[in-house]
Amino acid sequence: MANFQDKVVYQIYPKSFCDTDGDGLGDLPGVTAKLDYLKDLGVDYLWLTPFFPSPQRDNGYDVADYRAVDPRFGTMEDLETLIREADKRGIGLMLDMVFNHTSTDHEWFQKALAGYKKYQDYYIFKDGTPDKIPTNWVSKFGGPAWEYLPGLGKWYLHLFDVSQADLNWENPAVRAELADILRFWREKGIKGFRFDVVNLISKPEVFEDDHEGDGRRFYTDGRNVHRYLQELVAAGGIDGMITVGEMSSTSLENCIGYTNPDRHELTMSFSFHHLKVDYKNGDKWSLMPPDRMALKNLFTLWQEGMQAGHGWNALFWCNHDQPRAVSRFGDEGKYWKESAKMLGTATHMMRGTPYIYQGEEIGMTNAHYTSIGQYRDVESLNYYQILQQQGKTAAEALEILAQRSRDNGRTPMQWDGTAHAGFTTGTPWLGEADNYPAINAAAQVKDPDSIFSYYKQLVALRKQEPVISGGQIQFLYKDDPDLLAYRRWNEDTQLLVVCNLTGHDAPVTLPEGWAGAGLLLGNYPDGGSRTSLRPYECWVLKKG
Ligand code: GLC
Repeated sequence: MANFQDKVVYQIYPKSFCDTDGDGLGDLPGVTAKLDYLKDLGVDYLWLTPFFPSPQRDNGYDVADYRAVDPRFGTMEDLETLIREADKRGIGLMLDMVFNHTSTDHEWFQKALAGYKKYQDYYIFKDGTPDKIPTNWVSKFGGPAWEYLPGLGKWYLHLFDVSQADLNWENPAVRAELADILRFWREKGIKGFRFDVVNLISKPEVFEDDHEGDGRRFYTDGRNVHRYLQELVAAGGIDGMITVGEMSSTSLENCIGYTNPDRHELTMSFSFHHLKVDYKNGDKWSLMPPDRMALKNLFTLWQEGMQAGHGWNALFWCNHDQPRAVSRFGDEGKYWKESAKMLGTATHMMRGTPYIYQGEEIGMTNAHYTSIGQYRDVESLNYYQILQQQGKTAAEALEILAQRSRDNGRTPMQWDGTAHAGFTTGTPWLGEADNYPAINAAAQVKDPDSIFSYYKQLVALRKQEPVISGGQIQFLYKDDPDLLAYRRWNEDTQLLVVCNLTGHDAPVTLPEGWAGAGLLLGNYPDGGSRTSLRPYECWVLKKG
């Protein structure tokens, strides 16, 4: 089975990508309108986050109908046009399958509410009384993970928002329904799938209180998850297609299992440990600067570990749930351009398939919001309250959101310097970041020194140099907190990738024989000294 080694995926959050009808929400014709831009960047697949009918409590991750297009985003015809036009440009579409839960507006849940036993078995209902919650598990968005329905005398499980009811994968009828949805989209010409929090689908046999944590250890990488994925892939007829699973709080061992081609589960997995290195005591809402040593160790563990187990990583810094990488691990100010390029290099040269999240290729930053009224994300709004209940002042809570809110990654795509960054002629559903007059696509596409042009090179190099897509990897300078460095090699070629993760100079002693190697790519125009890296400097050196 192919691992899609030489492919690059571009993630689109349609709501914030491009609005063609002036209602302030991005739409599918907006994606079609920007296909030439994406073709120019050189990407192979577009992963579109959900555009299905949804009450939008969680921006579409609360799906009410898996087989239709929400009119807010356009029509099925618009989608078919997008599939066709993308195909003409050699670009395939990947859809986001939210199969851990449905919206409570979904017909299945509505029928469950109406008392149909068949549909109650589609979800995780527990008989009970309002005074006795089934377990003490905590929802990922804050608050209890169970909701009581007085009319039914039952609780239902929701690991996310109260409007996102967890599906009961133990029920074969549920598994058959979900496989059928995959077949439906495959027949429409969809080329791949991203599976939302798919390692949470298999719940335990017995539901019990978690006296050590928030409950996640009982359902993360759960007992039947590998079997269910194998069954879904086979029944959905998607073996051999590009698939990526979003794995929440997962383990290396399980990700090898999910992605080792012999197992016929998924082609690659997203894991998030490297994006928690600035969580103080593991808590997203406690700020600390990124722990670079931890970051390096995690990359080393996952890259070398997945290689040893023949697994395959999805490589990424950014997505719609993450603050912007350049704001977080780079420098928004003086070294904005250098640090954005360095971060792109660090992941694109690794072993795995890179994902570019909309706006990353032009160095988009965090939102810089200063009032709670600017936020839209359900998680951010919940935590604004929770943090204050925990004793933080409103100003402190806002400072935390400014760094951690998912809305940082959801601001409108900055197309140009005109009003609302050229995203919409109306009022955007979420305000644009203040820096769009300076940071935008129009200013970059033709500039050979821009972040956009550099990302084009990163994508192109993967196709030119088989060592990037297929070579082995080994990390170097493991004790140096400033340098992220690794070697890639195959029979013909060797690469040495060295990245300065800091804003100061970082001396380096290159391994024997490398000082004279050619520079395949670097983020300073003159290529550097080979004895010291300047702030955020990176080198991709090549031999052979
Ligand atoms: C995933 C999505 C996120 C969503 C959650 C619940 O983590 O990426 O946006 O809120 O799942 O579906």
